[in-house]
Amino acid sequence: MNISIQSLSKHFKKQGKIQVLQELSFDIESGGISAIEGASGEGKSTFLYIVGTLDEPSTGKILYDGKEILQMNQNQRAKFRAKNLGFIFQHHYLLPDFTVLENTMMPLLIRRENRSSAQKESKKILDMVGLGDRLSHYPDEISGGEMARAGVARALAGNKSLILADEPTGNLDRKNVRMLRDLIWELHEKMKFTLVIVTHDRELARSAPKRYTLSEGRLHERNPLQKEEKERKEKKRES
Ligand SMILES: Nc1ncnc2c1ncn2[C@@H]1O[C@H](COP(=O)(O)OP(=O)(O)O)[C@@H](O)[C@H]1O
Ligand SMILES: [Mg+2]
Repeated sequence: MNISIQSLSKHFKKQGKIQVLQELSFDIESGGISAIEGASGEGKSTFLYIVGTLDEPSTGKILYDGKEILQMNQNQRAKFRAKNLGFIFQHHYLLPDFTVLENTMMPLLIRRENRSSAQKESKKILDMVGLGDRLSHYPDEISGGEMARAGVARALAGNKSLILADEPTGNLDRKNVRMLRDLIWELHEKMKFTLVIVTHDRELARSAPKRYTLSEGRLHERNPLQKEEKERKEKKRES
């Protein structure tokens, strides 16, 4: 899905005015992986929620394949989300009273897919994330790394075209961070969804082909590999 962000600003009125995002304009490449880095409190989640149509910008707009979804009513937006969007969260939000399979099926059942096709699709994606033998486990019967993978499966089930990840590796140790990144990258290669990750995890962000930094409400594009490559070469030349 192609996403065009145009002069997007967001402030909150709470104790005074909190300006979070200022005039962001950029396009998110369809089928690519973009990472937005930023320290805590810089507005990463706010940005992702707006792109995920869960919140609205104060001013500016977003076009999703040319359409202004944020202008639509709640009901139409909810339909758009159910059909196209998958969310991966730091706190995976698996429902404790449902099995791994049922958790993965949930978004499909909510969008009124029939039970047997929801089950078939969910099993397939759980297989792909390596949880084919954990279908009937409850969230408290699997490891942290497995929970993260279940969260990925739930986000991806049902052919979503836009996946939004908010600190997807936030709760994991380094080994599991790499595991999750490799898994997401591998699934992206197969399924070609558009992926936007917001994170303060540099190692994760560094692997993304498109990399931005969010700071003081503004977004700066980084050209990670080229820049680091250049620095390395310069160092070599100096020594
Ligand atoms: N619903 C809200 N009402 C008022 N202020 C908010 C709300 N959500 C976030 N903020 C403020 O906006 C800023 C950015 O928050 P957030 O997007 O959660 O940052 P990040 O995800 O980068 O840590 C913070 O200063 C936070 O306190
Ligand atoms: Mg956040």
